[in-house]
Amino acid sequence: MSVAAVRPHALTDAEYAALAGFLAQQAGLVFDQTRRPALAAIVGERIAATGAADLGAYLARISAPAGADERQRLLDEVTIPETHFFRNPPQMAALRRRLLPELMRRAVARGRALTVWSAGCSTGEEPYSLAMLAAEVAATLPEAPRVRIVATDLSSQAIAATRRARYQGRSLALVDQGVLDRWFAPQSDGSHEVVPAARDLVEVRLHNLVTDEPPFDRGEVDLVVCRNVTIYFARETLRDLVGRFHTVLGAGGYLVVGHAETLWQVTDAFTLVTLGDAFAYRKDLPSVPVPVVEPPAPVVHTAPRREVRRTPLQRARESWPEAPAKPHRSADSVPDPDHATELLRLAREALEQARYAEAARLAAAAAVASPFEVDAYVVEGRARATVGDDEGALVALRKAVYLAPKAGHARFQLAGALSRCGEHAGAAREYRAAAVALPQTDPAELHDLLDGCDVAQLVALCRRLADECDRRAAGEPA
Ligand SMILES: C[S@@+](CC[C@H](N)C(=O)[O-])C[C@H]1O[C@@H](n2cnc3c(N)ncnc32)[C@H](O)[C@@H]1O
Repeated sequence: MSVAAVRPHALTDAEYAALAGFLAQQAGLVFDQTRRPALAAIVGERIAATGAADLGAYLARISAPAGADERQRLLDEVTIPETHFFRNPPQMAALRRRLLPELMRRAVARGRALTVWSAGCSTGEEPYSLAMLAAEVAATLPEAPRVRIVATDLSSQAIAATRRARYQGRSLALVDQGVLDRWFAPQSDGSHEVVPAARDLVEVRLHNLVTDEPPFDRGEVDLVVCRNVTIYFARETLRDLVGRFHTVLGAGGYLVVGHAETLWQVTDAFTLVTLGDAFAYRKDLPSVPVPVVEPPAPVVHTAPRREVRRTPLQRARESWPEAPAKPHRSADSVPDPDHATELLRLAREALEQARYAEAARLAAAAAVASPFEVDAYVVEGRARATVGDDEGALVALRKAVYLAPKAGHARFQLAGALSRCGEHAGAAREYRAAAVALPQTDPAELHDLLDGCDVAQLVALCRRLADECDRRAAGEPA
């Protein structure tokens, strides 16, 4: 193929497969057809820039040792560096209140440094957020360990930006003025540089999670944070990587993944720990008692979750959505839209503050006061699903979808709950319906789901999860 012929539309199926295969093998990245135009444009530009005769010649060049720089260049171009400081506030709250204090106390007891791996750190916002949190938590403890955060990424551009540690715009959107004043030094170009007190805690390294050995000894790490990195990894690639995380983590250490990522059906070597609106995976060794956690131990589910067995009659009933609850006619539960709005506001507030039982109760009351208020069912469903009451969540979310079939966020949540309850065929259907509905859903409703992804990425995720659920429904191994 000539250079001029390498246009987005000009990659043949075989060429696209060769390119995608190369990237899967080099970085674990799986590119489906939705990303074909973007990938073809990138590689077309690189072929032109290097003067390679065609895609085959380009791939041959970057596969050879002498092509390492160009290979890195391509990887830099195809990776997605989307990130920001204090991304996913519920996880940040869980780290501040639960994980970091627990891990720091343990590190002190063992007389060693607290070691954190920010794996797939992008341009550095994540490891520096962790450094700031760790320093703040350390200041509240009677005795604190030395903190060492190792930040790694595949992209050399991202690593260079992490080393620069200067930020502006979107990166700082969740940084309030107090944090900005404490942890950043304003620069003459309008950017903000992370101050040495946080910066010095972070070691930065170029590292490929798929092809390189972890930069740690067995059991050396207390916390692995690998968020929004493996979302496009094939299951086997993810399984291998999670195995390496397990090896480098010490007993009682935690793995934190992105909110759309899960180890369900990937491994049962970790224990899923619910932490408010967030969750983490803990490495437990049966022979090694995990030190007592303060404050009281979190709700624990062992992953993978138990398959819920139902009778055929129950299954048949559940495949039909229930009609929304009829308004109660007693004096204290007359439909009242204003009252419902207030209840829903309180329910959302409770959800945000991790008061799940209250959120579910308030949302259910809002639904009684205004039975056609879709969001009341969505909030109730989210609250119930967060504490592991997926069956309760199913009831609420089915009502939401019944009332608003185009509510992509409700369909997405319903698909997740169905999948966790072992209803794989239904989950596959819902994920596909969510893929169609999400682009038409009010972006404000998607804020929590997106968490830095764009809608196209979420749609791609839905399709992938739908395929996985189909395979499970057909009884294939995960
Ligand atoms: C979307 S960013 C996530 C950044 C950060 N973890 C967060 O959640 O905000 C994904 C990062 O993963 C990195 N990445 C993708 N594949 C990787 C691999 N095989 N090894 C290391 N890093 C990888 C990309 O370069 C990119 O910087």
